[in-house]
Amino acid sequence: MEYKPEWQIIGEIKELAQKPLQEISISKTKIALTYLDGNFSAVSGFCNHSGGPLGRGKLSDGYITCPWHNWKFHHKTGKGEPGFESDCIPTYLLKIEGDKLLIDLASASPRHKSPHAAHPLAREVKRSPGPIRVLGISTTNMDESNPRTSTSDLLLEVAIKHASATLKAEVQTIRLSQLQFRACEGYYSKAARACTWPCSITQMDPEDQMEKVYEAFVHWADVVVIATPIRWGNASSLYYKMVERMNCVQNQITIANRQLITNKVVSMIITGGQDNIQSVAGQLLGFFSEIGCTFPPFPYIAHSRGWTAEDMEKNVIQVSESKDLRSGAQALVERSIETVKMMIETEQEKKLERGGRKDHDLA
Ligand code: FES
Repeated sequence: MEYKPEWQIIGEIKELAQKPLQEISISKTKIALTYLDGNFSAVSGFCNHSGGPLGRGKLSDGYITCPWHNWKFHHKTGKGEPGFESDCIPTYLLKIEGDKLLIDLASASPRHKSPHAAHPLAREVKRSPGPIRVLGISTTNMDESNPRTSTSDLLLEVAIKHASATLKAEVQTIRLSQLQFRACEGYYSKAARACTWPCSITQMDPEDQMEKVYEAFVHWADVVVIATPIRWGNASSLYYKMVERMNCVQNQITIANRQLITNKVVSMIITGGQDNIQSVAGQLLGFFSEIGCTFPPFPYIAHSRGWTAEDMEKNVIQVSESKDLRSGAQALVERSIETVKMMIETEQEKKLERGGRKDHDLA
């Protein structure tokens, strides 16, 4: 049977020709309309990757770049950029009648999503059998080629050694100061679904080393001990750089009702020359509870010498010589391990769903 287009008016040519790329909505269909070298073209307004709004992207060298994670599609053929041509988005027939531009929505060519190898982090989060695994994360910053002694690191080391030598846990420590990773670039602020798991930056930038934190935190560890100094009354800037990048973990709960963190216990070591321990602890507890972590009783140990203590050089001596702090660090990791063991043995993850998101599932 002969194909009969169903033309619909998009708008006035004079107006539509003002912008090289724009998003047009016709009924529920979103179109990325381009005007280049005196010609109009129309392709789907939804990106193949995560549905980004192509009509709000950029047009250059004939390709529309998605504003969410930079995938590219040809403005006329709908094909992906060179190397990804089999990935294509629908194209539409257009015609000009008088001073109007018309489109035939029924003419949409098929969308084709080529299989893209899933990022290794995207695999199912499932605890593999074996001893309890304890991850230490040092968030203090320093010149790694000329390191100083850090009080938070001193106590973290005590905790991790105790976990390994006495409690027979598997252990690893990540020092954020040794990783090269980008700060969060606010994909969530573009759109809730633009902030993906794995993180948008991790998927785009193979050099970014935040992947090591995700792998160890989300997939490997049962217990995570976070060590931070107090900097101007807050946790360290590297701590915040890390947790901002963990928005993608929390975001899975809100956009896909998917809880990546289960049966994971977090405890903290907080040290500073002056004060604000409880405020820092409150910040950390707030963040890790939001992503589904659990805490042992008495989830942190801390040390500070008060507002008048300006002789910072004495801190290292005090902390390294304090038997209380050493035994405190050991007891902290012990409590954390006991807590997570109980959770694993009683399969808490099956019983304690977050809930409250099913009606808001945006995925
Ligand atoms: S590149 Fe378009 S949604 Fe990710």
